[in-house]
Amino acid sequence: MAEFRLPKNSRIQKGTNYDVAGDDAKKKRTFRIYRWSPEDLDAKGEPKNPRWDSYTIDVSKCGPMVLDALIYIKDHVDSTVTFRRSCREGICGSCAMNIGDGKGTNTLACTKAIDDFKGDITLSPLPHMPVVKDLVPDLNHVYAQYASIEPWLKTETPAPNRERLQDPEDANILNGEDGHGPAGCILCFCCSTSCPSYWWNADRFMGPAVLLQAYRWIADSRDEATGERLDQLEDPFRLYRCHTIMNCTNTCPKGLNPAKAIAEIKKLMVARR
Ligand code: SF4
Ligand code: SF4
Ligand code: FES
Repeated sequence: MAEFRLPKNSRIQKGTNYDVAGDDAKKKRTFRIYRWSPEDLDAKGEPKNPRWDSYTIDVSKCGPMVLDALIYIKDHVDSTVTFRRSCREGICGSCAMNIGDGKGTNTLACTKAIDDFKGDITLSPLPHMPVVKDLVPDLNHVYAQYASIEPWLKTETPAPNRERLQDPEDANILNGEDGHGPAGCILCFCCSTSCPSYWWNADRFMGPAVLLQAYRWIADSRDEATGERLDQLEDPFRLYRCHTIMNCTNTCPKGLNPAKAIAEIKKLMVARR
């Protein structure tokens, strides 16, 4: 079975510098990329420590976003660099990673411009998640938590002949007056992996992404399982490990407010007592 854990007491080592920009480069930028693979073994057959590899490229030859630079590096410099991406326009959530030129932020590589950074750009996987390889975090646990909130419409009344309609006011609760309601969540998990409570209690605390999704179904006027959904969250860890630190809302690349969604669930808990 694949080993997804880093070696014990692992430290990130200095890796290889690749400078392929050339003297005639119009715009040189350096990307420091976290590299680790469970298949990269030392002489004893143990996984090696992770390392930072640096890639200096001419970014005038690629698109303007950090993901464009990553794709350029993979295509032209080092095909072993591993990351997830799909939509390339901030919809699928798969390119979430920690990006920075000093203090990093969890964000989407496809919507983050290279020019937003001044110095060398450091790319690492979402923090406090097991790493599958390089920039790819293991999302199995967080998706199991997502499945546990049963993210689908639950009803008891017979299905109508056509779809279940919803008043525009009720739809606005999901979509948000400004388009930043809970239905806009793309499950990138930038928020959960920026939440200190989630770092330390991910085994039992649901974390902001999953709680925002839970609220999305609780707040849906067509859903008929509100009581059951609240029962499932009524637990000292699942919901109440949120201490309103607000990292989640500050980091969300879609401008959503998971902290507010969590507060709304807590209000509903109090209201039903
Ligand atoms: S508000 Fe709650 S969920 Fe968001 S970062 Fe803080 S503790 Fe985590
Ligand atoms: S709330 Fe924002 S940061 Fe969190 S998973 Fe959804 S889109 Fe990503
Ligand atoms: S590639 Fe889909 S959100 Fe970035």
